[in-house]
Amino acid sequence: MPATLTLQEIYLRVAPQLRDVEEEFRQQIDSDIEVIRKASRYVIESGGKRIRPALLLLTTRLFNYSGHLATVFASIVELIHTATLIHDDIVDEADTRRGQQSMNRRWGNEITVLLGDYLYIKSMARALDQNNLRLLNILSRATLRMVEGEIAQLTRNGRLDVTADEHLDLVSRKTAGLFSACCEIGAVVAGAREEEIEALRDYGMDLGMAFQIIDDVLDFTSTQSTLGKPVVNDLKEGRLTLPLIYLLRKDDGESRAMIGTVLRERGFVTISKERILAALAEHRTIDETLDLARAFGHSAQKRLAIFPDSEIKEALFSLPTFIIERDR
Ligand code: IPE
Ligand code: IPE
Ligand code: MG
Ligand code: MG
Repeated sequence: MPATLTLQEIYLRVAPQLRDVEEEFRQQIDSDIEVIRKASRYVIESGGKRIRPALLLLTTRLFNYSGHLATVFASIVELIHTATLIHDDIVDEADTRRGQQSMNRRWGNEITVLLGDYLYIKSMARALDQNNLRLLNILSRATLRMVEGEIAQLTRNGRLDVTADEHLDLVSRKTAGLFSACCEIGAVVAGAREEEIEALRDYGMDLGMAFQIIDDVLDFTSTQSTLGKPVVNDLKEGRLTLPLIYLLRKDDGESRAMIGTVLRERGFVTISKERILAALAEHRTIDETLDLARAFGHSAQKRLAIFPDSEIKEALFSLPTFIIERDR
């Protein structure tokens, strides 16, 4: 099956459902506490790609399911994602998110931590209301793994000796697990057979791996105005991602010394961003990283083989291509 759809075409296949999710999401984060209401409006208006809800909806539509549970759970996964981003920006000391001031910058760390907590609990409370233990279990496991990933990442901060495997384990926890949960939930909600649920869970995992690997690449190759968040920030924050891990593996001594200096100085003081980017270009490690993301993309596509051809399968088949070629 050729993967030819654009993101817009993919989203069009679940457009009415996505509109319902937006409405549900809006209702979920409403509150009679003023700062929560204001911050919630701020989050809603900042947009975001809504890729997790889209994914969940597409998997339900693969089985022609169109009930209300899809809307509810699609909005829940976006709530969880939002809470994670809010906490992540505090931890990363990021001042920009989705092209506007980050919440921590705007409201300060104290309130922002609590707003993140609020959204996490909201998401679980809403899930609990649905009286479906299997779905609740998938969600809580994925969320715990995300937090484990973020904590594990912090404990490795500033370390030069992180291996590619250690990094990929982190990626699987902090990002791919939620993508996988979206697909699994969609399939369970739609009443799919166990082997179909498993195939979609694996599809989501591969897709999420590709997604985070590309996010890490964009940190080096994109601009703040395109991405809506800081760039060349991971290294500054003490995090080595695959392009740098591969560079260190080829080590010529010079790169190791440069990267070590940036980590020690917690920023580009003695060593400029440009020198790091030049080293990546010289050793072609961004290309190497892109190759790995493409491999995850192909693997995701192969997981769909058990499903008969359909418009929705075509959309799911096209998603990896978008994720790999995206610029934001
Ligand atoms: C950002 O996720 C965090 C990562 C897991 C890389 P998205 O790129 O989906 O963020 P929004 O929701 O579109 O802003
Ligand atoms: C996202 O990782 C991890 C989450 C699950 C929130 P990043 O730290 O790379 O996300 P961005 O780049 O800030 O969006
Ligand atoms: Mg971050
Ligand atoms: Mg990032």
